[in-house]
This record gives sequence, C-alpha cells and structure tokens, in this order.
Amino acid sequence: MKVYLTAVGILVLVATVQCTEHKCLQGRDHKKAPSEEHSMKECTVYSNSSCCYSNFTEQLVSPVKKVDNTQWDLCQKLSTGCEAFMKKVECFYQCSPSAVNWMNPNYTAGLLHVPLCVSFCNNWFDACKNDLTCAKNWITDFKWDENGNNHCSGDCVPFNKMYSNGTDLCQSMWGQTFMVTDSDCRCLRMDGRDEMVLQYILYKDSSSSSSSSSSSSSASSQETSCQQALRRLEAPEAEPEGEESVVLKKE
Ligand SMILES: *[C@@H]1O[C@H](CO)[C@@H](O)[C@H](O)[C@H]1NC(C)=O
Ligand SMILES: *[C@@H]1O[C@H](CO)[C@@H](O)[C@H](O)[C@H]1NC(C)=O
Ligand SMILES: *[C@@H]1O[C@H](CO)[C@@H](O)[C@H](O)[C@H]1NC(C)=O
Ligand SMILES: *[C@@H]1O[C@H](CO)[C@@H](O)[C@H](O)[C@H]1NC(C)=O
Repeated sequence: MKVYLTAVGILVLVATVQCTEHKCLQGRDHKKAPSEEHSMKECTVYSNSSCCYSNFTEQLVSPVKKVDNTQWDLCQKLSTGCEAFMKKVECFYQCSPSAVNWMNPNYTAGLLHVPLCVSFCNNWFDACKNDLTCAKNWITDFKWDENGNNHCSGDCVPFNKMYSNGTDLCQSMWGQTFMVTDSDCRCLRMDGRDEMVLQYILYKDSSSSSSSSSSSSSASSQETSCQQALRRLEAPEAEPEGEESVVLKKE
C-alpha cells in the first residue's frame, strides 16, 4: 500500500513538472513560449503575450480564405459576422498563452474541453446560421488530399441545419476542443474579459481540488461568487489579496 501511494505521488509529481514545462501548445505554428508581438494584424487581444508570431495572423485578415491548409470558404465566402467568430476561436487556439492549460494529454498540439460560455456559443451560432459548411467536425469530416488541403465530403448546408444550436456548434465543430459550461461566468468568451475570468477559473480549480467544501455548494451560489470575484478583479483599486481569497471561498 505504501509502495502504491509512493508511486502515485511520483506520477503526480511527474505530471505537474511536465505540465509546467509546456508554455504553449505544440502545434506547427506555435512558439515554444509566449512573448510580446508588435505587428499582429489580427488576434491583437493576445499581443502582450502571444503563442503565435505576428506573421501567422496575416492569413486571418478578411476575407479569410485559408488558415494553414484548411480552406474556410469551401462552400462560399463566410459572412463578416461568422468569420469574426471563427477568427476568435482560431486566435485563441494559436495565440492565447492560456490555451496550454487545456492541452489535450493525448495530442499536445490540440485542446481538450476548454470551457466556453453558453452566450458566446449562441452568438456564434446566430452569426453563422445562414453561412454554409460541408463538415460538422472540421477536424475529422473533410477529405484531405495529398497536399494536405481539405475538400468537402458532404453537401454544403447552412450552419443551422448542420448544428442544432450554439451548444452543438461549440461542442462539434472542433471535436473535443470545447465544452459549454452551465455557468455564464466561469467560462471564456474569447475576448478581453477572459483574462479576468482566467485568474478566477485557474485559481479556483487549484484551490477546489484540495477542499471538498466547494463541491457541495449549489450552482447558483457558485455563479454568484464567480460574479463577485470578477467584479473584485475588475476593480482597479483591488483590495489586498487576503480580502480577495475570502470572496473566492464564500460559497
Ligand atoms: C498590454 O499591456 C499594456 C501595459 O500593461 C496595457 O496598457 C495594454 O492594455 C495591454 N494590451 C492588451 C491588448 O492587453
Ligand atoms: C514567421 O516568423 C517567425 C519568427 O520571426 C519565423 O521563424 C517563421 O519562419 C515565419 N513564418 C513564416 C511562414 O514566414
Ligand atoms: C486518450 O487516450 C487513451 C488511451 O488510448 C484513451 O483511453 C482516452 O480516452 C483518450 N482521451 C481523450 C481525451 O481522447
Ligand atoms: C441543443 O441541441 C442538442 C441536440 O443536438 C440538444 O440535446 C440540446 O438540448 C439543445 N440545447 C438547447 C439549449 O436547445
């Protein structure tokens, strides 16, 4: 038993060390570690600390035709509104220094279950509902030729035929990359607000694993404490840190 526990302890230690080693995802366009970028054409929300080089963002200038080998306008050019959401998602994956927190353990170039807000997904669905796509899962459902370019394997249909709703869109288009949360606070919207939410989500995740008390609290009180924490983080004259952790624990 003692031997077993020690082995578990070592595994946890190794996992922790490996986790902190990764500063960015390990895709073909990712840097080893985030750094400032001065001439980003898009994704500028990440310019202070970016996992992508500025030159990557050149292909995200409208109208976007192709990002790396994936053509976006196989059926027809995307509407401006729809394209804007696709860009936010691409920018997060390629450039956000926080994405690595959700690195897929089986595939270090990919993400697993990044928590998205229901409102973000619904707005994305709404913006794209009349645009056309021929793949439901953009990772697995295209045909890829020998040059690595994607082609339709099914018919072009409107997004609102391909996906039932915002949740379905978020949880299908990029495979297991995203999951929709039941909270509209403890989740990302791929904009400037994320920085604040991340302070809360990442702090909370590490603290809740060592205390069981938070797991018994109701969803609505978690939502309230999240909103309180965000207000605290947003306030420029932030209270001393001790004060803040009292708010975070009050559930
Ligand atoms: C980058 O950092 C500067 C200085 O801290 C800040 O004023 C600016 O708003 C930041 N830019 C972004 C896009 O977050
Ligand atoms: C983009 O810039 C980086 C660093 O400046 C460079 O290493 C890389 O080769 C460039 N990529 C392309 C496609 O030009
Ligand atoms: C990772 O791979 C293992 C072993 O093949 C599998 O059991 C597990 O479901 C995979 N996890 C994900 C998130 O794909
Ligand atoms: C979204 O669609 C899925 C089916 O794909 C369904 O199970 C779910 O209840 C729908 N959600 C909402 C909020 O309508």
